[in-house]
Amino acid sequence: MVATATAVKVRSRPHERSDLWWVEPVVIVMVLGAFVLYSVYAGVVGTNYYYEPYLSPLYSPCLSANCVHPTLPLIGTYWNLSPAILIVAFPLAFRVTCYYYRRSYYRAFFWSPPACAVPDARTGYAGETRFPFLIQNLHRYALIFATALLIFLWWDVLLAFNFNGRFGIGLGSILMLANVILLSGYSASCHSLRYLVGGYLDSFHGKSLRFRLWSLANRLNARHARWAWTSLIVVGSTDLYIRLLSMGVLTDPRIVF
Ligand code: FES
Repeated sequence: MVATATAVKVRSRPHERSDLWWVEPVVIVMVLGAFVLYSVYAGVVGTNYYYEPYLSPLYSPCLSANCVHPTLPLIGTYWNLSPAILIVAFPLAFRVTCYYYRRSYYRAFFWSPPACAVPDARTGYAGETRFPFLIQNLHRYALIFATALLIFLWWDVLLAFNFNGRFGIGLGSILMLANVILLSGYSASCHSLRYLVGGYLDSFHGKSLRFRLWSLANRLNARHARWAWTSLIVVGSTDLYIRLLSMGVLTDPRIVF
């Protein structure tokens, strides 16, 4: 860690901070990097994503005929690749363009800037006014698609409590429920959602429903960073748990009534 700190100090431009400002970007690189590597592997491999009645959230909705457990087989047998590839663009676009993640990965990966009062590693700064960063402005549309995916994830959770026609609760059911609650909280706390429910108005006078929705969105938004990190970690953990069950490494503790 001393070596890391030294390296950071050598590469950074002059500043007067002497605290451990570099810890946050280093942790973000490790957590975000691990998640990206794992999710690329899990999404491309195309196996061990279903263990009855659990479907990995990285594969939901399962849209191709080659799915082990198709949700909506819209894509025919000509699709031979992993079913996750068909849907990964939507949650990925939502996360990549998220205002909070942008702050995090600009700091951690681009050092732009790495921390408050620490100069940007680059000399030029164009903000998000040029391609490819101009695409970040599509976040509000990514929100709509990601929210639509939540409908399928909630449906998967209902199925996760159905054990051959009998109601039951397994560790997988609980993980899948926690996952969809956290993902819903992540979407509901989105900055763009605040604007969708409360924007375009000069006044909330006579708009009590929109005011209540906007107030709720504001309260959730204050914890957006927590929603972002917990949902990221739990979605990866849920896939890993189902994967290990499917591979026979773990046994699912469950009560079936
Ligand atoms: S700002 Fe983070 S999901 Fe919209």
